[in-house]
Parts: sequence; structure tokens; C-alpha cells
Amino acid sequence: MAVSDVVIVGSCNIDFTIYTDRIPKRGETIYGKKFTSGFGGKGANQCIAAAKLGASTAMIARLGDDNFGKEYFDLLKKHNVNTSHVMITSGISSGVAQITVSESEGDNYILIVEGANGLLSPMDVELAADIIKQAKVGLFQLEIPLETSVAAMKLFKEKSNAVLMFNPSPAKENIDPIIFTLCDILVVNETEAEMITKVVVKTIEDAYAALKSFIKLGCKTAIISLGSQGAAFATKTQKEPVHVKVNPIDNPVDTTGAGDLFLGALAYSFIYKNHLNLNEKIMFSCNIARECVQKAGAQDSFPYLKDIPHLMK
Ligand code: RIB
Repeated sequence: MAVSDVVIVGSCNIDFTIYTDRIPKRGETIYGKKFTSGFGGKGANQCIAAAKLGASTAMIARLGDDNFGKEYFDLLKKHNVNTSHVMITSGISSGVAQITVSESEGDNYILIVEGANGLLSPMDVELAADIIKQAKVGLFQLEIPLETSVAAMKLFKEKSNAVLMFNPSPAKENIDPIIFTLCDILVVNETEAEMITKVVVKTIEDAYAALKSFIKLGCKTAIISLGSQGAAFATKTQKEPVHVKVNPIDNPVDTTGAGDLFLGALAYSFIYKNHLNLNEKIMFSCNIARECVQKAGAQDSFPYLKDIPHLMK
């Protein structure tokens, strides 16, 4: 069995994206400007982000028995992802996401149908135990059933020196707080931070307040990605949260997947850039995440290692 450095137990979606000047009002029909389709899903995005940077990765996932599922399987192979536990599931569609990118707001709105992602089970996790336990970094999200994510995290944590990164996305209210004690690093965006901690995150001070709530919930390290403002983080042992600033991008084209690219880059940094301290690892990951907002789509906009020599020094 091949050993992979990064394991992802998560979702694969096909993204259907419409770019528009503005979001239509209720009951209104308007013309969009452009349509694209591409490979997405938070789990696979984080996996491909790390793989494009050169990490050895394994994905535990379910795809539907439609053309999308077959194409997705081939894509994972093309990026040298270990697919021994990516299953094509009969009688169900692959996961899909309908994305609207509003150019006036510079933001996106995402509606997903889970399809085969919803059938990824704790038993699937058990069958992939060897791969999960041998990885150095594990990436887990909530676009698959919660009990499957929890089972995967518990199994991964049986090995003490590995780094468990948890991205509770899409965020859910009233998540069992035990989940926060399982992870080494929690990563959320402003919306997810607000939904979980009930702190409205508009300013850096708000982010600090939300980070302190995450530490109270039992997180060892919590990071809030702040888009053009970089990220802020707090740890259990450090007195005060820290703001990691980046140079903002003027007129971003599409922010879809930027958070996933941040997570893939962070996972990469914990293996291949482990001489950096946490602040530097977050800065490195923010700078890589900036790269994708200048291009349309999720995975298609993620850089290969060869595209970013200036960030690899
Ligand atoms: O995080 C971005 C992703 O969210 C998209 O690729 C879409 O599939 C949804 O899962």
C-alpha cells in the first residue's frame, strides 16, 4: 500500500458557475454574463490544492455513477492522488454545486446537492484505516455526513504526531463541541466563525473575539481566513490572537475555492515547509490563496508549484 503524506476524507462536486453583475431580486430573472463548469467540492479542492503544490495525497470519497463521476476519478488520477478509496457509487448522482459569482459584491453564493458525498460512511472510513492512520496531515470538512467526518478524525488521531486540520464547512449550528477538541488546527472563514461562535466578524477585533471563543470551545489552534485582510489566528498557549496581513488584490475575479487553496497550502507547509513557524506558514498559505482569486473557477485557478517560484523561497 502506497503511503500518502496528506489524507482528505471529503467531498467531490461538479461546480456550475454563473458570473453576473448582481444577484437577481426575489422573483426576478436577469441575464448572467458567463457560464463555466469545473471540478470542485471542498474536500477535493483541498486535496488538489496540496497535490498541485507537489504533496503526495490520498482522497477517501464517493462519486456518482454518472459521467461526472468517471471524469472526476480520472482527474484525481491525473493529479497523482491515491484513489484506492474513491468509490463510484451506483444509483446516485455525483455531488453538484450551483455557484453564482456577483461581480458587484466580489462574492459568491453556493447551493449544493450532496449526491454520492452523502453516502460516504463510517464503514468507508474504517476500510481506509491504513491510509488514514499513516498520513502526516489530515484534512476534514463537513460536506459529507457529520458522523463520517467524526469517525475519520477519531481514527486519524490514533496516531499522535500527525496534524489534524478541521474546516467545519459548510458550517452548521450546534455542532457537538467534542469535535473542536479533536482537531489540532481549526480553519474557518468569517461566515463560518459567526455561525459557530455567534460573534459577527466584520473587523479584526471581531475576529479576535471569535478566535477566543474557539479556544474556549477546546481548539488548540484556530485560524479565521479574512479574504483581502489575510488571516488571524489564536493558540491555546499564546496570550493574544495575531493578525497575519497580506497585500489585497484589487478587483478579484472569483474567490471560489480560495479558502480551500489556503487549507491545501497550509497542509503542504506542515510537511514540506515545516521549518517555518505558524505565523510564517499562515502567511505562506495566504499568499498562495491570493493567486487563485485572479482567475475564474475553483481547482482550475489553483497554482502548480512551478507557477509560484517567488512564493517558495
Ligand atoms: O469551497 C468552494 C466549494 O464549495 C466549491 O467548489 C463548491 O463545490 C462547494 O463545495
